[in-house]
Amino acid sequence: MTQHWKTLTDLHHQTADRSILSLFDAPGRAGTFSAQTGDMLFDYSKTNIDAETRSALIALLDAADVAGRRDAMFGGAPINETEGRAVLHTALRNLDGPAVLVDGADVMPGVLATLDRMRAYATQIRDSAITDVVNIGIGGSDLGPAMAVDALAPYHDGPKCHFVSNVDAAHISDTLRGLDAKTTLVIVASKTFTTIETMTNARTAKAWMQENGGDPGTQFAALSTAADKTAAFGIPAGQVFGFEDWVGGRYSMWGPIGLALMIAVGPKGFDAFLRGGQAMDLHFQSAAWDENLPAMLALVGIWHAQVCGYGSRAVLPYDQRLSRLPDYFQQLEMESNGKGVQMDGSPVEVSSGPVVWGAAGTNGQHAFYQLIHQGTRVVPCEFMIAANGHEPDLAHHHQLLTANCLAQSEALMRGRSLEDARANMQAAGLAGAELERQARHRVFAGNRPSTTLAYPLLDPFTLGQIVALYEHRVFVEGVVLGINSYDQWGVELGKELATSLQPVIEGTADAAGKDGSTASLVGFIHQHSA
Ligand code: F6P
Repeated sequence: MTQHWKTLTDLHHQTADRSILSLFDAPGRAGTFSAQTGDMLFDYSKTNIDAETRSALIALLDAADVAGRRDAMFGGAPINETEGRAVLHTALRNLDGPAVLVDGADVMPGVLATLDRMRAYATQIRDSAITDVVNIGIGGSDLGPAMAVDALAPYHDGPKCHFVSNVDAAHISDTLRGLDAKTTLVIVASKTFTTIETMTNARTAKAWMQENGGDPGTQFAALSTAADKTAAFGIPAGQVFGFEDWVGGRYSMWGPIGLALMIAVGPKGFDAFLRGGQAMDLHFQSAAWDENLPAMLALVGIWHAQVCGYGSRAVLPYDQRLSRLPDYFQQLEMESNGKGVQMDGSPVEVSSGPVVWGAAGTNGQHAFYQLIHQGTRVVPCEFMIAANGHEPDLAHHHQLLTANCLAQSEALMRGRSLEDARANMQAAGLAGAELERQARHRVFAGNRPSTTLAYPLLDPFTLGQIVALYEHRVFVEGVVLGINSYDQWGVELGKELATSLQPVIEGTADAAGKDGSTASLVGFIHQHSA
């Protein structure tokens, strides 16, 4: 791989000062440097990628055998090598697709049977007196369904869904306050059913329900791979929806972890979401690399993060209902590819996954876009926009939203020269030294890269496409970097130390063996705790 990285680095150095805008002098750039599947368009023409760079990037895919790894993943091979597991979230949306074999056994009958049970249960809840659903989970057992429930608000016709994740008592207290325990369903979503935050919140919710006239025996459901633990918690098997360890936490919203979403939008809406994911799977498996959305999204990300060295990436959906999407992508990308060693234990050759952050447009424009436009760091931006909103009576809002989205990518690329800034200042009546001083503050370097994902409407199918697109993007990046995207050992050390600190905080053990800072902080907290 080293030679491939070197070629790309050379290309970057040769072209770094080139104007992105000048690339549009060649006719048809927007069409040539974009990819489409169905009604979804990924435009990466506002980047410094040209035909030679794209070929060199695509060579990375072949060198890393992305196609072989992709087929191995879809085929049920244990590509999560550090945990010896298959990676088969794609099986959860493989509706009427082919058999998927794990250790020689087809997993699809089990997947489809669980999906049928979910449909029946969701329908039963939607037809019942339940008014509110509280999903208790964290990380992948929270971010996906919470994001999707917000995203598909126009399709809600079921009970209202709430999400509790943080072990901070504020979260569960603020959520349960005002809910009627007699008409609330609590879903405990935890792959392992051991996560301390989730289990602490679940016990608190159970006590609340018992104290307030509800019946945890009928009003609790569990989503987990650990049937023994859900039974020990007291949740009857009929209210438990299981899945297998080949579904990673941050990839799990397509199965039982998506139950809250299914209850909110109904089984038909959930099916459409699965169909969107499945459509992206088929596209990823069949499209040529330069027409393949996940591959090109990954390669643009690699170009910016690993070759150009830009340390972060902003996800900027111009859709209020996607305001949780940056959080969701943060876990998806950073927990998957934020690693320092390759599959074989050797160090990664280049930097690993970038920092992913962002917010819904236009809110971000009035917060952090200043840095994106004029700060000294380059932040590649990933814009998203629907051609239509869900509020036809307020179409002018959507037009304004769209104009802002397109204006931002144009401004990032075009910038504003000192000459233009001077002319503007002159027109405003300034002259001399004051004009010079003011003009310099109004210069935009420009030449800042961005991509735009555009689609007709944020409906369940499209949301499924978007989520699967980013899942596969993370997969491709991980394969190219040689990383196992499907483990998360980096979260363990903090968990272990929290367990050892708990008795110290509770006052049943002392801080012996802790570093001076930690011991001093424990002392301060003890001194000030009531
Ligand atoms: O943060 C680590 C992690 O294991 C995530 O990968 C996972 O999504 C989250 O914790 C929750 O885990 P569980 O679903 O087992 O409670």
